[in-house]
Parts: sequence; structure tokens; C-alpha cells
Amino acid sequence: MSGPPDLAVRPYRADDLALLHRLMHETTHTVSLRDYTPAQVAAWAPDPESPAGVAQRARLSASLEASIACVADWAGELGGFGNVTSAGFMDYLYVHREHQGRGVASRLLTCLEAAAREAGARQMDTHASLTLRPLLERRGYQVLERRRVVVVGVAMENFWMAKGLSPGT
Ligand SMILES: CC(C)(COP(=O)(O)OP(=O)(O)OC[C@H]1O[C@@H](n2cnc3c(N)ncnc32)[C@H](O)[C@@H]1OP(=O)(O)O)[C@@H](O)C(=O)NCCC(=O)NCCS
Repeated sequence: MSGPPDLAVRPYRADDLALLHRLMHETTHTVSLRDYTPAQVAAWAPDPESPAGVAQRARLSASLEASIACVADWAGELGGFGNVTSAGFMDYLYVHREHQGRGVASRLLTCLEAAAREAGARQMDTHASLTLRPLLERRGYQVLERRRVVVVGVAMENFWMAKGLSPGT
């Protein structure tokens, strides 16, 4: 299996929420600047302490609680997380800004695809960022639609991507 050998991928716990929300904020404000403008990043990940940030944390919590969520954990240091519904929709996938390009997302995707398959989903799909698209294409996902979304008045691009989940994929 790819990814750091000492990395555990475990189920999400409610007491992970604050750290994961901060991880998501920090990753967006650093890594996502490769592909998105500062205005897009600011709309995507508001200050966690602001009213918009508090609302975003509530949405993140609701999504993680209502899905199968996996956390990448190095002895208590959280390296990333992702989640998928039982219908196969991946809502979040974020890797810590200091652990990029080490196979953490690949490990999380393997966990999420297995969980979705086990839940009976026939395909996995997501609204992928520009940053995530190349990795998903390498894993066999195809772009179904190029999307333009508007977040608090700021337009940005992402991609509806999917792949079938048959045994062994
Ligand atoms: C996209 C993201 C999740 C990828 O996480 P990651 O842990 O760095 O990805 P991995 O290390 O597992 O990547 C696996 C492979 O894909 C390659 N890869 C990853 N992202 C890539 C990119 N943007 N372009 C080209 N190749 C890429 C890696 O080099 C690696 O190749 P290898 O297997 O040959 O070594 C991470 O960059 C991130 O958190 N981005 C910001 C948040 C985001 O956009 N999330 C998606 C929201 S929809």
C-alpha cells in the first residue's frame, strides 16, 4: 500500500473536529493558492473564528457525522481526512499542508473507496478542485462536468468526477 508506512487511517471521532477544521483552513490558504486566487481562497475558507467560519465548521461536522469519514493519524498528529456518503459522494478530502505529496490522499482514497463499495455504492463521485483533479484522473476517475460555483459572490471552478466501483477497482 502506498503512503507513509507509520501512518494509520482510522475512523473520524467527534473530538477531531476542531483540528480538522483548522487543517482544512490552513491547507486551503497555502496549497490551494497554487490553483486558486487569494479572493477565491478567502471565500472558500473563511477565518475559523468568524461567523462564516463557525457556520463552515457546523457544515463540516454535519457532513462528517452523516457519512463514513477517515482520518490520517501519525500517533495523534492529524495528516488529513476525507469522507464519503453511503451513496458514494466524497464531500471532503484534505491533506495537511506539511504532508503534501507523500501519498496521504492516496491512502485516504483507498479507505473511502473501500468503504463506499462496502456500503453498496456502485460509483464514487465528487466535486474535485483543480488541485485534486490530476490525482483522481490517475486513479481512473473521469470528468463528467466542468462546474462554475459561486461562493459568497466569488466564482471558482471545479469538476464533477466519477468512477465505477466494481470489485478490484
Ligand atoms: C489534492 C490533495 C488532497 C492531494 O493530497 P496528497 O496527499 O498530496 O496526494 P498524494 O501524495 O496521495 O498524491 C498521489 C500521487 O498523485 C500526485 N499528485 C497529487 N496531486 C497532484 C497534482 N495536483 N498534480 C499532479 N500530480 C499530483 C502525487 O505526486 C503522487 O504521485 P505518485 O503516486 O507518483 O507519487 C492535497 O493537495 C490537498 O489537500 N489539496 C488542497 C485541498 C483540496 O483541493 N482538496 C480537494 C477538495 S475537492
